[in-house]
Amino acid sequence: MTFKKSILAAAIVGTMAGTAAHAGEVEVLHWWTSGGEAESIAVLKSMVEDSGHTWKDFAVAGGGGDQAMTVLRSRAVSGNPPASAQIKGPEIQEWASLGFAADLSGVAKASNWDAVLPKVVSDVMKYNGKYVSVPVNVHRVNWMWANPAAFAKAGAKVPTTMAEMWTAADKLKAAGITPIAHGGQPWQDATTFESIVLSVGGADFFKRAFVDLDQTALNSDTMKQSFDALRKVTGYIDAGSPGRDWNVATSMVIKGEAAMQFMGDWAKGEFTLAGQKPGKDFLCLPFPGTDGSFTFNIDSLVMFKQKDPANTAAQDKMAELVVSKKFQEVFNLKKGSIPARMDMDMTPFDSCALASMDTFKSTAKSGKGLVPSMAHGMSTTGSVSGAIGDVVTSFFNSDMSSADGVAKLAKAVKAAQ
Ligand code: BGC
Repeated sequence: MTFKKSILAAAIVGTMAGTAAHAGEVEVLHWWTSGGEAESIAVLKSMVEDSGHTWKDFAVAGGGGDQAMTVLRSRAVSGNPPASAQIKGPEIQEWASLGFAADLSGVAKASNWDAVLPKVVSDVMKYNGKYVSVPVNVHRVNWMWANPAAFAKAGAKVPTTMAEMWTAADKLKAAGITPIAHGGQPWQDATTFESIVLSVGGADFFKRAFVDLDQTALNSDTMKQSFDALRKVTGYIDAGSPGRDWNVATSMVIKGEAAMQFMGDWAKGEFTLAGQKPGKDFLCLPFPGTDGSFTFNIDSLVMFKQKDPANTAAQDKMAELVVSKKFQEVFNLKKGSIPARMDMDMTPFDSCALASMDTFKSTAKSGKGLVPSMAHGMSTTGSVSGAIGDVVTSFFNSDMSSADGVAKLAKAVKAAQ
């Protein structure tokens, strides 16, 4: 890939350019800019500053991080990557294989990461057996966020299956309430689509399609049924959806203008910030038909190699802080996710987080139902998930038939591999 070549050359220059930064400074590239996200990242900023180092904020707005990754690539190509960046899943290994990622073995050993992090998390953080990334949390993607008052007003039952969901959506529509709050951006379409695929096909099918990239699964009738369901979703969203940010869609549910949203639990950060309580003002339920499955999305920070030892010390300190119990608690209470370490006292967490932790642990133990998110870059490379997202979005925004959707999907995945 051409990007790989240009970036390899820039890697050497980039390491040297690190000398320009102030001693003990860490510049952090992230895309946490919604209300709940900004509150969360502020926790890390203040902990880094309290430890005596300088924080340089490098926020690139855009849910899902597509824009942030574009900016990261251009900074890296010009030989000036930030000291740290939010990078996820297989992309971590790609950056490490290009020689950018600092080896965090020292801090990992001193803080016993291998003992406190579950294997499903630590595997993603390592390259060639060494830690090159720090996990901040575990997000569950296959959630449905519901406004119980809106359902009550429409006389509709909060759905636990897709069949129930269509029935409820019809009642909500008839009552003048937007059934589904949706933001019109490719990653949001992909987020909804992957939950549908999990519901229609189950976890094993999800893995065959989005992890193994198996052509038979991609070309199957199950995938066609998933596109059929996605088409139905388009009939229950409002006309204002195109271009809308995910957190604006969440606010429609918070206000009761819309009844439900299909989004990962970063949405909970918005409900929490608005002072709403789970089980009362809003409900968190597995996406209909996916109870007992867990689509995971682990946020993590990669440290880029630095020339100045003071900056390396700041990175190591930040890495240590991120995995600390204190950070994992305070950050995740605001972010809506659950801690990445499994030895936490969960008393301060709400019912959604407790349910999430239960399902995460039970699926990790049984090996059944735990799947990496495709829409959030956990299941495959950026080029493959980007290709899937393109097909899903063009299906969503046109009158493409499900049969064409399936054929285009299988072809796009093949071409992107
Ligand atoms: C990230 C979350 C973030 C969400 C919306 C996801 O890909 O993992 O941390 O809140 O995008 O921006």
